[in-house]
Amino acid sequence: MIAVRPRRLRRSQVMRELVAEHRIGVEHLVQPLFVVERDEDAGPIESMPGISRHSLRRAVAEARELFALGIKSVLLFGIPASKDAAASGSYDTNGIVQRTIAAIKSTLPEMLVMADLCACEYTDHGHCGVLDSEGEVDNDATLELLCRIALTYADAGVDVIAPSDMMDGRVKVIRCALDAHGRTRVAIMAYSAKYASAFYGPFRDAAGSAPRQGDRRGYQMDAPNAREALREIALDIAEGADIVMVKPGLPYLDIVRAARDRFDVPIAVYNVSGEYAMLQAAIGNGWLDGDRAVDETLTSFVRAGADVVITYFAKTYAQRHA
Ligand code: PBG
Repeated sequence: MIAVRPRRLRRSQVMRELVAEHRIGVEHLVQPLFVVERDEDAGPIESMPGISRHSLRRAVAEARELFALGIKSVLLFGIPASKDAAASGSYDTNGIVQRTIAAIKSTLPEMLVMADLCACEYTDHGHCGVLDSEGEVDNDATLELLCRIALTYADAGVDVIAPSDMMDGRVKVIRCALDAHGRTRVAIMAYSAKYASAFYGPFRDAAGSAPRQGDRRGYQMDAPNAREALREIALDIAEGADIVMVKPGLPYLDIVRAARDRFDVPIAVYNVSGEYAMLQAAIGNGWLDGDRAVDETLTSFVRAGADVVITYFAKTYAQRHA
């Protein structure tokens, strides 16, 4: 006789839902938005079917649609009209990210507006900071730049600043700069365990931010390292990060789980452009059932222990489950 039959709990949809251990909530999803300074740069992104670069006006309209669908957090990325070695466009108070923050907050005050903080979209060499005389990213000089950008985001009304540059000590200096200027309410979501990954390829096409020379392995993490990720996360928490992030998502679910088990702060995971492109390519070819593959993917992040899931699938997920 078989005494225990786990299949009894799988017999119907109602039973399965009754005993489901994890659930995706739209309130935990964050939709990344690309916003262009020049209207002529707007349009679909070839390697990310379904995702576009938006003009400022379209970005606000998109934010409205998202909010109505229950996606109430967006993560902004700016694509400036021009770039230079010092990333001077990044701290322009009238820059594209700064203007988009202000426009969304004035139209939709309840929308949680997050802004990615990094120099790579603004440097002509494509690295995430300023270079020293040997062509290496100068950590401490970059910290000053990051603080300067952060303050312009705060002035524009941002809710959450998300530093993605991987410089050492950045959370601390950004927190200090914000607090010194009375911006104690602005939260920091740190890209703490951000790996040097091939899965950012489509994003770099979208943002035109691929390094012209070399790569990001001198500052982003090395794929084989898991303990080091926990060390990075611990450092960011000690420096004042409110939310910590693991990125990319699918190839690093073990890191999400390890972080969840060790730390008590909210954990975000970034389901990056290459993960999106990979699924969309297979779905587009009819090789995968798209709805099921996406739901299963997003479930894997929640099951691994993520509280916040940043994903290009946020909008379509909300549309399907409205
Ligand atoms: C900026 C940044 C990148 C991503 C988020 N912030 C690109 C990179 O580090 O090269 C990648 C996001 C994605 O691939 O969806 N540093």
